[in-house]
Order: sequence, then structure tokens, then C-alpha cells
Amino acid sequence: MTRQLTAPDIMAAKGERKLTMLTAYDYPTARLVDEAGIDMILVGDSLGMVVLGYDDTIPVTMDEMVHHCRAVTRGVSRALVVGDMPFMSYEAGPEQALASAGRLMKESGVRAVKLEGGREVAPQTKALVQAGIPVVGHVGLTPQRIAQLGGFKVQGKTAEAARIILEDARALQDAGCFAIILEAVPAPMGRFITQSLAVPTIGIGGGPHCDGQVLVIHDVLGLFERFTPRFVKKYANLAQDVREAVTQYKSEVESGAFPGEEHSFSMDPEEEKKLS
Ligand code: KIV
Repeated sequence: MTRQLTAPDIMAAKGERKLTMLTAYDYPTARLVDEAGIDMILVGDSLGMVVLGYDDTIPVTMDEMVHHCRAVTRGVSRALVVGDMPFMSYEAGPEQALASAGRLMKESGVRAVKLEGGREVAPQTKALVQAGIPVVGHVGLTPQRIAQLGGFKVQGKTAEAARIILEDARALQDAGCFAIILEAVPAPMGRFITQSLAVPTIGIGGGPHCDGQVLVIHDVLGLFERFTPRFVKKYANLAQDVREAVTQYKSEVESGAFPGEEHSFSMDPEEEKKLS
């Protein structure tokens, strides 16, 4: 039987091998990602944009996260599933974070949670870790703070800004994070932070020196067309495949080419005669 990866497995991989992480938001996708041997599946609040059609991740609720996390954990047997904590489910302090993360773990079966932010969420992180909840940190571009950051922009471009992000990452490591996501930071900074930390860094637009990489599955598969960040590599163009398949289906139904005999059920001829 396959053993599910744990937070200690992920920490132990630092310096040994590159870590892989992708998002998934539903059962069939989670199964496919897990079968491919991806180490960690993130049920990101990016689902608000790529699945639910919101403009950003701000409106995502804990109910929505629980719903999608439950679907994903049903499809996974090896990967470590990480559930994202939505905006305003942990910012108020450790008590709120404990209640939210506890609910997400108990009701959905995820085995770790992710919080956005630096030193300001260190108390929440510490409380979760002390309660036995593994935590992934997330610094650099933090989409839940989009209103404050003024858009999806690269972070830490100056040495001073980079130092602040490094200090944030260190605070999260000290608080007990087992991995830290670095989003949209210059590659030299990704390398510097990766070398400075004992826990693995997982880059998304953090350059090639991070200990692992994460991307949003809808970007990887070419299913989300509203915008594509520079750090995304598309490995498929499923949006085009879907368009072609649906157009062909429409035209075959309209012309009568579908359903054919092979898609229809036969009837005993004697019984058929009784119909007329
Ligand atoms: O919500 C998400 O999918 C994320 C990743 C982009 C890291 O936070």
C-alpha cells in the first residue's frame, strides 16, 4: 500500500531532491496529479479565480475551501494535501487560526494548511504547530493582500525589500513552518532565501534555485485564459481541446451523426414489434 507523504518527509527532502507541488481543486484532477507522483497537492484559494470565477481570492470562504479540500483528499493516496486558509480566517490571531485550521483538517482530511504573510502571522503559525497542525508559509507576492500591494507584482526587487522578505521567511521558519512558498520574487533572491533557510522553499516565480516548484494546475494545463503570469509554463492547451470537442459534439448532435448505433441500446425484435 502507498504511504502518504508527511510534513517531515517534505523537510527531509531539502538538499536531497527537488520537490514538486501542484494545485488541484476536485477529485478527478487530484487523482491524476497524485498518480503522476507529485509530492504535495495544494488546494489553493486560487480556486476562487480559476474555478469559481471571482476576480481575486478575497471572496473565498472557509465553506468553499472545505468543500474542495474534501473532494481532493478523496482522490489522493500518496501526496501530502495542503489546504489554503482563506482571507480573514486567521488574521485576527492565534485563536481564530486554530479554529479555522482545526475545522479545515477535521472536516476535509487535509494534513497541512497554508497561511499567507510574514512575521505578522508567526504567532498564528506557532499556535497551529503547537497544536499539531503542519503549516506551509507563503511570502513574496501574497495574493490575499492584493488591495495593499496594488496588483500582482514582483516583490523584493531592492536589496532592502529582499531583506524584509528574508526576515519574514526566517520568522516563519522559527515559528515552525515545514516549508515556505516564495511567490514572484527575483531568482537571486529565491536562491539567497533558499540557502539561508533550513526548511524547503517552494517557488512560484521564485527562480530555479528553490528547493521545489508549485504552479496552478489550470495554468499548467492551459485551462485558465484570463491572464498568464510570466512564471507559468503551459504544458498543454486544454482550453482549445475543450472548445474543439464541444464544437464537434454540437455539430454531430445537430447533424444526427451522434449518437450512433454503438452508443445506443438494442431491443429484442419481438418486443420491438409490440411497440407499433
Ligand atoms: O492559492 C494558490 O494556489 C497559491 C499558490 C499560487 C501558491 O497560493
